[in-house]
Amino acid sequence: MPRKEVQRSGIGRMLISSRSFDEYVAMFDLRDEDLAASVLDCPAGASSFTATVRARGFAVTACDTAYADATDLMGVVRDETIRGNAYIARQPDRYAGGFFRDAEHHLEHRLDSVDRFAADLLAHPESYVHAALPKLPFRDRDFGLVLSSHLLFTYADRLDLDDHDRYLTELIRVSSREVRVFPLVPTGDGRRYLGLDALRRRLDDRGIRHELRPVTYDFQGGGTEMLVCMR
Ligand SMILES: C[S@@+](CC[C@H](N)C(=O)[O-])C[C@H]1O[C@@H](n2cnc3c(N)ncnc32)[C@H](O)[C@@H]1O
Repeated sequence: MPRKEVQRSGIGRMLISSRSFDEYVAMFDLRDEDLAASVLDCPAGASSFTATVRARGFAVTACDTAYADATDLMGVVRDETIRGNAYIARQPDRYAGGFFRDAEHHLEHRLDSVDRFAADLLAHPESYVHAALPKLPFRDRDFGLVLSSHLLFTYADRLDLDDHDRYLTELIRVSSREVRVFPLVPTGDGRRYLGLDALRRRLDDRGIRHELRPVTYDFQGGGTEMLVCMR
């Protein structure tokens, strides 16, 4: 039997990254009317998306496995940002010239995002919920819009098709309108996740409507589309 191809990421242990609100807008093609539905960011990592959405007056919740110990997290996320930056600095051909001019620009932007995240976490700890896919502590349809960036598909070397199915099914369960997932390419691999068609067939079998949509966020070569699942 032929061996199954693994799309390796090369980043090492799963990164707790800190994308900004502007990155989320570009990744998920967000408009104000999207944010008016209550939003769940899962996994939110050290992203400042929640801080900015709240500051704009919208309802938003962040969840992540990393929120088990907030005190420890503060120390970890800056180091994680530097680790993520070192990874992209080693591959300027793949990561420079899109959303970020170069590695320095990436570092500055993400450290600013970490600072906003840390301040918001201190001020509004109730918005940062410790949770682990595939079992979220929310009721069916609790959120209008569920956003999921850089977990599904990104880590195809450690999440298999059944994991992706379970994670996505849970994200759909807690949404009343839409789930958007970005990117469709694993870290370090410009091709779509190799199990994507099989996953989409499973959604078809359950009657879940879904489509791929182009977006403007250009970070990793090849990754400029999102998966949208509709209730
Ligand atoms: C690369 S970060 C993405 C964070 C954020 N969405 C961003 O784009 O900056 C991946 C996150 O997934 C979280 N994570 C890993 N496994 C998880 C799970 N089973 N449930 C929830 N979060 C998980 C990690 O703690 C990490 O913060």
